[in-house]
Amino acid sequence: MITKQLLEIKSHMQIAEDTFEIVLQSPLAKELKPGQFVHIALTNHMLRRPVSVAGIDAQAETFTIIFKIFGEGTRELSKFQTGDSLDVILPCGSYYPIDQLEIDHAMIVGGGIGVPPLYYLAKTLKENGVKVTNILGFQSKNQIFYEEKFQALGDTYIATNDGSYGTKGFVTDIINELNPAFDYFFSCGPTPMLKAVSSQLEGHKGYISLEERMGCGVGTCYACVVPLKEDPSKSKKICKDGPVFSANEVILA
Ligand SMILES: Cc1cc2nc3c(=O)[nH]c(=O)nc-3n(C[C@H](O)[C@H](O)[C@H](O)COP(=O)(O)OP(=O)(O)OC[C@H]3O[C@@H](n4cnc5c(N)ncnc54)[C@H](O)[C@@H]3O)c2cc1C
Ligand code: FES
Repeated sequence: MITKQLLEIKSHMQIAEDTFEIVLQSPLAKELKPGQFVHIALTNHMLRRPVSVAGIDAQAETFTIIFKIFGEGTRELSKFQTGDSLDVILPCGSYYPIDQLEIDHAMIVGGGIGVPPLYYLAKTLKENGVKVTNILGFQSKNQIFYEEKFQALGDTYIATNDGSYGTKGFVTDIINELNPAFDYFFSCGPTPMLKAVSSQLEGHKGYISLEERMGCGVGTCYACVVPLKEDPSKSKKICKDGPVFSANEVILA
């Protein structure tokens, strides 16, 4: 059940340029599944800000979020400190339905702020005996985070837009180059990236997670609707039906 909680920040640190990792204490941590997000209230903003779950520690009853400063809300979030409390609604949204899939080899494709939920997913897949290949895109070298953590889970390839690290270009360039064998792909990142990845991998089985702008976060305001491919007059809500969708289920704007 979705619940509002006041959660203590157990740790808060900068892990890359403009990018922060926060660990929060909650008895609900173990219920958070890969792909789900939490909705965080900030003092000077009427609307909460959605941030994906990047990992959990069931024993310690903590979960991790990673975020990048985009505007005033995430800037405010970056200024919190260990020991402070955050007003959080959780667990929110759908998750990658990996328990229902037969997977031997998963290809993980993430870009920028879409990388955090994929770390939790890749870790869970690896724990379930699935081979993972990670392809991650960042704007530049100083924005890269969790590279070693992803390497510990499987082969990891990085692209940067400016060529300051790894392959110069996009995740799609790496997919072209590697052409890896996989059963399912899982992708999260900016919509233009998801569009490019989905069309490049058309015909393959996979799931995408959308990090579009939200209003209420609980399915009442219609700020987050996406049309369905099957019938564009129908739509789904990212906050409630998503953020995880089957690849090719929705029309990406
Ligand atoms: C389901 C979901 C999961 C998310 N997970 C993460 C995460 O794990 N880490 C993370 O860093 N961010 C994540 N985001 C994006 C994050 O919610 C936005 O960056 C944040 O809401 C921006 O708030 P702000 O007040 O800082 O910026 P605002 O002042 O609201 O906006 C500043 C700029 O950011 C743009 N922006 C606002 N919201 C979004 C958005 N949702 N996506 C892309 N650009 C946006 C605006 O167009 C504007 O240019 C997620 C979004 C969703 C919907
Ligand atoms: S954000 Fe309000 S319906 Fe999705």
